[in-house]
Amino acid sequence: MERLEINWRRDFGSEHANQWVELDPPSKPAYQPLSKALGLDSGCIDYLHQAFAKNLNRHTGWITSDTAGHQAAAIYKRGVPTKNARTNSTTSTGSYPVEISTKQGLIKGALKTIDALVFIDQNVYDAWEDLLCTIKEKVVVPVSEKNKSLEFIADLFRDNRTERHDEWIAIGGGILSDCVSFAASLRNKKITLMPTTLLAMVDASVGGKTGVNFPPYGKNQIGTFYFPKKIIVWQGWLSTLDQRNLKAGINECIKHAVLDGDKTLLNTLCTDFLEKKNFAKNMKRLIEVKAKIVALDPTKRGVRATLNFGHTLAHALESISQQHADQYLLHGEAVGLGMVFACLLSEEVVKLPSNVTLKIIQAMIKAKVLLSQDQISHFLGQKLDSQTIRQEAWKLIAHDKKMTSSDSGKSSWVLLDDFGTPHQDPDGSFIKSVSYDQFDKTWDRFLSITATSEPN
Ligand SMILES: NC(=O)c1ccc[n+]([C@@H]2O[C@H](COP(=O)([O-])OP(=O)(O)OC[C@H]3O[C@@H](n4cnc5c(N)ncnc54)[C@H](O)[C@@H]3O)[C@@H](O)[C@H]2O)c1
Ligand SMILES: [Zn+2]
Repeated sequence: MERLEINWRRDFGSEHANQWVELDPPSKPAYQPLSKALGLDSGCIDYLHQAFAKNLNRHTGWITSDTAGHQAAAIYKRGVPTKNARTNSTTSTGSYPVEISTKQGLIKGALKTIDALVFIDQNVYDAWEDLLCTIKEKVVVPVSEKNKSLEFIADLFRDNRTERHDEWIAIGGGILSDCVSFAASLRNKKITLMPTTLLAMVDASVGGKTGVNFPPYGKNQIGTFYFPKKIIVWQGWLSTLDQRNLKAGINECIKHAVLDGDKTLLNTLCTDFLEKKNFAKNMKRLIEVKAKIVALDPTKRGVRATLNFGHTLAHALESISQQHADQYLLHGEAVGLGMVFACLLSEEVVKLPSNVTLKIIQAMIKAKVLLSQDQISHFLGQKLDSQTIRQEAWKLIAHDKKMTSSDSGKSSWVLLDDFGTPHQDPDGSFIKSVSYDQFDKTWDRFLSITATSEPN
């Protein structure tokens, strides 16, 4: 068994705002039942809608005088500063252990000893019923990106066992852990995470980001920073995970190896996962990479942004896929494509040596995790080489959504100077602004690379 301890720090109420905006108290709250089911003041959800409609970013503070406004500010994009705050600013710190094992005993032991309410992803329950059926207090829930929502959290709270138990356990992938951790943060419950997908093991369960989607304003827009009591990682879960999801998770592992500049990890992890070798050792390294970045920057002001390497294009492709295709592109698949794009863009914009791009692409091809152009087109519901997709992707990526012409506006990217060295501007920012021309030029190269990638 491998074990590591992750330190965390949380600052309440001390965030710096770049500007302040006054929000109007809702005269007739339209989402009262939902606010109530979530245990929030009436008007809270209305404040969220108001802030999204005004397109407020994380660095804009809110001037609001009522509790509902403060509650909304606390969960809007995982927390924005407020004026007239009723609590003083505080900093809390702590740590939690991560236990990693190839043996089922770890899970069995943990389930036996804790008198907890256990939330289980329906698919995991179906695949592991023999192991999980003896759990006394369990809530088995179907999960999907569509139901990763405030309504889903409200449904969890309608089960009055959520109030009775102070200890919760979440057994599932990233969707379940994001939702249940968010719910736990709203109720101040202790939560142990047992991630069952590769992506959730190396990424979603580490770092304290919790939350749900808030349509039509996008993915993971509502949430909190909240840290688990413990994370227990057992290799066995992966034996029932389908190959597509396993490979999607490998892309996030590749991202960690790239950010950390670990060439050995990059070259071995893919085959190791597919051949079920060196699990605990690799997992410890991969979790450490994320934990190290998060510890340097717990609330995403600086270096934590580098974890979004590959995510600018990924989010746009995921969004296009969800609008047009019957079968959606998985997050990890989109991140793989996004990393290729960000490498190519880095060559153009910050002079990343092309052999670095090549090494990363080769690692992805070796692991058969890079989708072919036909596969991408299938998951996007349109041909990748069509002009429409390029324009649609840019519109989703560009900052100023009101601009109509495709060749206007700017977009934000995490780029690489070298393997293991994310680009940092002289002002300290890890985000690089990119114009449409640069994006357009890179898109042509991106098309030619995906055209040569084999379907897998
Ligand atoms: N909080 C964070 O820092 C963070 C980071 C990355 C991703 N995420 C979020 O994680 C989510 C994606 O997570 P994911 O990739 O784990 O997807 P997921 O939770 O949707 O799981 C993938 C699929 O596999 C099923 N499944 C899970 N474990 C299984 C198992 N062992 N055997 C059989 N089936 C199993 C699930 O039911 C689901 O259908 C996204 O919503 C993303 O936004 C969060
Ligand atoms: Zn991701």
